[in-house]
Amino acid sequence: MAEDAPQIRPYQEADLDNLYRICVQTADSGGDATALFGDPMLVGHVFAAPYAIFEPSLAWVAEDEAGVAGYVLGALDTRAFEARLERDWWPALRARYPDPQQLSDALSEPERLAMQAIHAPFLADSELVGRYPSHLHIDLLPRLQGRGLGRKLIETLLGALRASGSRGVHLHVGRANQRAVGFYRHVGLTELPATDPRIFVQELGD
Ligand SMILES: CC(C)(COP(=O)(O)OP(=O)(O)OC[C@H]1O[C@@H](n2cnc3c(N)ncnc32)[C@H](O)[C@@H]1OP(=O)(O)O)[C@@H](O)C(=O)NCCC(=O)NCCS
Repeated sequence: MAEDAPQIRPYQEADLDNLYRICVQTADSGGDATALFGDPMLVGHVFAAPYAIFEPSLAWVAEDEAGVAGYVLGALDTRAFEARLERDWWPALRARYPDPQQLSDALSEPERLAMQAIHAPFLADSELVGRYPSHLHIDLLPRLQGRGLGRKLIETLLGALRASGSRGVHLHVGRANQRAVGFYRHVGLTELPATDPRIFVQELGD
């Protein structure tokens, strides 16, 4: 039935828990990373929640009759977004999660990287943000993958970024995530010369 077909709609505040869940369930190079995190919300604090909270007009979700199972999240101006997180997002998390450099507990590599991102945030390369000032994250749970929703989500976000006057968009993808690399290439993004993580870009000008 048509009403059972998965839909894309703008993000709403009530979706936030689902964003956290989807984020950890796709954080192991696209696969489920739940077993790698003592706190399943940790990775969503870095890669999902702040986008939806600070740039909700650039967030969409995909849902089917079982609920929300995918999202695309964007930041219009990466430098401004980084500054906003430094002011309004990381301080509370720094109080809650230890600096991994001062921690003797065994951490999985993804846990260590997420805690490091909270205490020493990754700042995008200046040349990259000069040319491609926006950035994005996209994740779908397996049941919604391979059904055209990734393409729809990314096209929706790119259209909104273009309409907001962005000159270009970039994204980072781990080298091990071959499926995402194939997807980004197929939907027309360009890969920059060898980096780790890989970087894909798209100009958005007229
Ligand atoms: C990567 C991901 C976003 C792709 O979304 P998707 O919904 O599965 O992809 P779609 O079904 O929309 O595919 C769109 C097009 O890309 C093609 N495509 C998808 N994956 C491909 C691949 N690995 N290689 C080549 N083409 C691919 C599809 O065939 C389709 O082609 P068409 O539109 O010309 O018919 C999704 O699979 C996902 O979220 N994976 C897990 C999380 C993840 O890895 N996120 C990215 C982190 S950087």
